[in-house]
Amino acid sequence: MLKLRNVSKVYEGKVAYRALTDINLEVDKGEFVSIMGPSGSGKTTLLNIISTNDAPTTGTVEIDGENPHKLKKNELAKFRRNQLGFIFQDFNLLHTLTVEENIVLPLTLDGSRVKEMKEKAYEIAGNLGIESIMHKRISEISGGQTQRAAIARALIHEPMLLLADEPTGNLDSKASKDVMKMLVSINEREKASLLMVTHDPQAASYSDRVVFIRDGKLHSEIHAGENRQAFFQKIIDMLSLMGGEGNDFSSVRV
Ligand SMILES: Nc1ncnc2c1ncn2[C@@H]1O[C@H](COP(=O)(O)OP(=O)(O)O)[C@@H](O)[C@H]1O
Ligand SMILES: [Mg+2]
Repeated sequence: MLKLRNVSKVYEGKVAYRALTDINLEVDKGEFVSIMGPSGSGKTTLLNIISTNDAPTTGTVEIDGENPHKLKKNELAKFRRNQLGFIFQDFNLLHTLTVEENIVLPLTLDGSRVKEMKEKAYEIAGNLGIESIMHKRISEISGGQTQRAAIARALIHEPMLLLADEPTGNLDSKASKDVMKMLVSINEREKASLLMVTHDPQAASYSDRVVFIRDGKLHSEIHAGENRQAFFQKIIDMLSLMGGEGNDFSSVRV
């Protein structure tokens, strides 16, 4: 489904900065992979390269057999809209619009019919338990509800690859658990692949596999086992082996 081959990223500037080095990573159809690593290790850079927000300096990205970085501008816009779903920590929702308006926004760009859009939006909202707040503005709903609205919008195109950057970052543990359960059920029901960056071991424990990155390089990976609690413990152990989370700003200069 997703194949990264020798992906490296150097940010040019007064001092060039090597953010990623030779990343090789494959995600299967329907697989749920989490990416963890200390702050500054290159997680967001990696997601930006996969989402085509940014280009790799060297190496290739393949999504369902296609290299999105090679597409022409309008082909790429369509590819992103139809094949990819994005869930970011700041949600990227428009606060003055209603939940429903936000959810159908990607479809309006495609010129879909209003009735069709509405039906689809309500079906997804129903699955996410937010159909009762469709007419509220984003500014009037809770963090957990906002996150569900963001997920609904990411799903409206039935993407084959969902990319999430810290989707539970702003949520309390109850809301975070709800969001994770929802992502897992979408992942299972739609057979969508899910790639999630998270610093939260609890959230990561819902995935099939956790890939650890450090200083822009793949460090290790672990697979889910028989139960989530044991996987959670394995994730915690790996994070402490890596030297803790969030307090490591080691940098690699080129
Ligand atoms: N646009 C940019 N220009 C220069 N350096 C950047 C840019 N974006 C990120 N970096 C640097 O690349 C490294 C990796 O950043 P990032 O991918 O955001 O890490 P993470 O998401 O793991 O915290 C950091 O040291 C960061 O300062
Ligand atoms: Mg980041």
